[in-house]
Amino acid sequence: MLLNVFLSSLFVLPALAASADDWRSRSIYQLLTDRFATSDGSSPTCNTGDRKYCGGTWKGIVKKLDYIQNMGFDAVWISPIVANVGNTTYGEAFHGYWTLDINSLNSHFGTEDDLKSLASELHKRNMYLMVDIVVNHMAATSNPPNFSGFTPFNTQNDFHTECFIQASDYDNNQTAVEQCWLGDANLPLADVNTEDDNVVNTWNTWVTNIIKTYSIDGLRIDTVKHVRKDFWPAFAKAAGVYTVGEVLHNETSYVAPYTEVIDAALDYPTWFQLTPAFASTHGNLSALAAAVQSAQSSYKGGEFFAGSFLENHDQPRFQSLTKDLGLVKNAMAWPFIQDGIPILYYGQEQGYTGGNDPDNREALWLSGYEEDKPLVTHVKTLNAARKAAAAANKDFYTSGLKFLSSTPSNLVVSKPPMLALLSNGGSSTSPQWSVPNAGYSANEDLVDVLTCIKITADSNGGVTAKSTQGMPQVLLPASALSKQGNVCPSVATGNQASGAEKKWAVQVFGTVAAAIVTCLVAFS
Ligand SMILES: *[C@@H]1O[C@H](CO)[C@@H](O)[C@H](O)[C@H]1NC(C)=O
Ligand SMILES: *[C@@H]1O[C@H](CO)[C@@H](O)[C@H](O)[C@H]1NC(C)=O
Ligand SMILES: *[C@@H]1O[C@H](CO)[C@@H](O)[C@H](O)[C@H]1NC(C)=O
Ligand SMILES: *[C@@H]1O[C@H](CO)[C@@H](O)[C@H](O)[C@H]1NC(C)=O
Ligand SMILES: *[C@@H]1O[C@H](CO)[C@@H](O)[C@H](O)[C@H]1NC(C)=O
Repeated sequence: MLLNVFLSSLFVLPALAASADDWRSRSIYQLLTDRFATSDGSSPTCNTGDRKYCGGTWKGIVKKLDYIQNMGFDAVWISPIVANVGNTTYGEAFHGYWTLDINSLNSHFGTEDDLKSLASELHKRNMYLMVDIVVNHMAATSNPPNFSGFTPFNTQNDFHTECFIQASDYDNNQTAVEQCWLGDANLPLADVNTEDDNVVNTWNTWVTNIIKTYSIDGLRIDTVKHVRKDFWPAFAKAAGVYTVGEVLHNETSYVAPYTEVIDAALDYPTWFQLTPAFASTHGNLSALAAAVQSAQSSYKGGEFFAGSFLENHDQPRFQSLTKDLGLVKNAMAWPFIQDGIPILYYGQEQGYTGGNDPDNREALWLSGYEEDKPLVTHVKTLNAARKAAAAANKDFYTSGLKFLSSTPSNLVVSKPPMLALLSNGGSSTSPQWSVPNAGYSANEDLVDVLTCIKITADSNGGVTAKSTQGMPQVLLPASALSKQGNVCPSVATGNQASGAEKKWAVQVFGTVAAAIVTCLVAFS
């Protein structure tokens, strides 16, 4: 057993080629490198409206890994890493999505060594590195673009003929979506000719190389629906790690086919229902349930590999829509109590309220990285509850959730041994749930992990519960929580090592393994 732990730690240090299966138990913290942390820990002003670089770096991320890991995340998604265009009509490319040269790094964020150290520092903590990439286009500051300024695609033939995608194309003309251009005459996003064999080979070689060079464990792929579907399987194979793509669309029927060509999609169809469901007390939780059931039955392998999120850098932050803490805590609970891989966009935990781009890209250093705020605690508890549920049921990550009840204002979500009770009544209400077939043992001791209040199941294993101030409840058996752990230890009755204790073991063995690898290198 000890030997097993030791050996697996040894292999954690180099790149893991982490598969979709390896990712299904992970929890991802998404950040924009420019806005997360500075190398020297300083806090420069950062006016989002200016759309300028604010000073965040890969070194800065390394210095704040405790902050991320303390919340229970075991993967970090960073914004694109390659060299981008300079000043444009729409500001600077601090977000990294305006590629100029795929073979150079964006020097604002640091050096090759800095990026490699970020990967190795993550791996020492048994955390994964996910990198965001853009394949569909490159960005130009003139129209027509100066094609010879791009690397490596530097002739007009490497790109589709210029035509800008029209709003009506999205419903009627997939060829235009794939072969016409995003952007506009001020900032044309030159659409790479992914029908050309040389271009395809260059991309596939490139992706194999960056995965290896920077020990990347997973890829978030931008604008996936803008590239022909049959481009993706060979690209994903060349990557050899988990791939999750942005397919911005509200219908599962549009998104699902993309889960056949890469590992998974970001779960936009669910997000489109999730946001309005909890953004007001008139939202429709039944519509959220319907979207989830549709995703479960149409995505490849169910919803387990989908990226599940409430916020990202392209959408107004949830707390720009409502500041009602009851609604916010219900909505934030969603990504952590369902089938997919939870993703939290940096800053949500600090209560950031930025609206549309660029307002939703605030500098995190301005928050002081406080760890005792209510939403930080909320996230920490939700991550820990997910791990505790999985520790208690080996099928947790492979069994689809069930809605035991769904109405426009209430949801009962069963993912054994977890039972989540959600409502959108808001903080002036005291929601009640009566769940006759909750699936627990007769008179089983349960705990709402968000309050540590004990509830006892009835003689049929059913649950009757009531909360205050519109709060959600996330129930687990007291036996699934450890007396030595950090989730409600005072009411826990279980004894298994807590997540924190496991983390300690991995760190100790990881350090020993690192020392051995260092010795091997020194003596070779
Ligand atoms: C950046 O470009 C904009 C528009 O092209 C221009 O107004 C602005 O002065 C430029 N800023 C710098 C620092 O060059
Ligand atoms: C186009 O880009 C090339 C390579 O960077 C540069 O040498 C050339 O001056 C640029 N041409 C124009 C018109 O900007
Ligand atoms: C779809 O868009 C392409 C590219 O703009 C265009 O050539 C084609 O005629 C369009 N097809 C239809 C049916 O409108
Ligand atoms: C998706 O959006 C379109 C256009 O806004 C709308 O007609 C359609 O009903 C939406 N689909 C779902 C599942 O909400
Ligand atoms: C809520 O969503 C469900 C499922 O999509 C739908 O059948 C119902 O009509 C919606 N209710 C309201 C009030 O919009």
